[in-house]
Amino acid sequence: PLVSMNEFLPKAKANKFAVGQFNMNNLEFAQAIVEAAMEEKSPFIYGVSEGALKYMGIEFTVAIAEAAAKKSGLPIALHLDHGSSFEVAMKCIRAGFSSVMFDGSHYGLEENIELTKQVVKAARAMGVSVEGELGTIGGVEDDLSVDEADATMAKPEEAIRFYEETGVDCLAIAVGTAHGMYKGEPKIHYDIIQQVADAIPVPVVLHGGSGVPDEAIRLSIAAGVGKINVNTENQVACTEAIRQALEASATVIDPRKYLTPARNAMKAVVQEKIRLFGSSNQA
Ligand code: G3H
Ligand code: ZN
Repeated sequence: PLVSMNEFLPKAKANKFAVGQFNMNNLEFAQAIVEAAMEEKSPFIYGVSEGALKYMGIEFTVAIAEAAAKKSGLPIALHLDHGSSFEVAMKCIRAGFSSVMFDGSHYGLEENIELTKQVVKAARAMGVSVEGELGTIGGVEDDLSVDEADATMAKPEEAIRFYEETGVDCLAIAVGTAHGMYKGEPKIHYDIIQQVADAIPVPVVLHGGSGVPDEAIRLSIAAGVGKINVNTENQVACTEAIRQALEASATVIDPRKYLTPARNAMKAVVQEKIRLFGSSNQA
């Protein structure tokens, strides 16, 4: 069965590794991710955005994740990514999600705390874990777009208070990463990660994990990151493989001919990330 993030996040925090959230956008993504994790014997999180949910349908999403958990025997959490309301979080929980993110980062601090609290209260009663978010993470993900100039770093004191009042199971804070690919290199504020992670018992979450240099990932984990989200790198690998296969043959009509290399390319991306995050053999 699917598990809550509390099956593996406490161990990640204690042993200084990070668990990957890999976003599921279709069946091939789901297969690539679970195959990589099986080879690495790693726990992982399927992240599903509201856009992806609309695309796949909630029943297929849950059924695919459950099939992956059954086939692999791995601890897998099915997690709503950037949930925008209490209602969508409850809809996911009722459908079988084992974890949800409530992203109230665009509200003021007080309102964000109040709304997140309500989600935590309802989710906890169902054994479902919750991620909260503070500060605004720049870039574009599905319908979510934040101008990078408007992205503001989380304030450590506010993050600590947010944790204490909401009791979330992990906390995403804006520390300099962005959704999508980077133009230059992201400037990560390790001091913010460290200050928050030292003061709360749950891990800090790093969003926008695609395109972050390996060394920056290692330093982030050392500072207290215990969950890292990756989506764009898999999208790029998938699309490049398909484009290549289509360019190589003008007559191909069988989708399996271009989806197989796409799936293999994503599997390689995920396997590399799992090793980098240090979650191999932690299942
Ligand atoms: O919530 C999802 C992640 O933050 C994905 O970010 O597409 O830049 O890897 P990314
Ligand atoms: Zn994100």
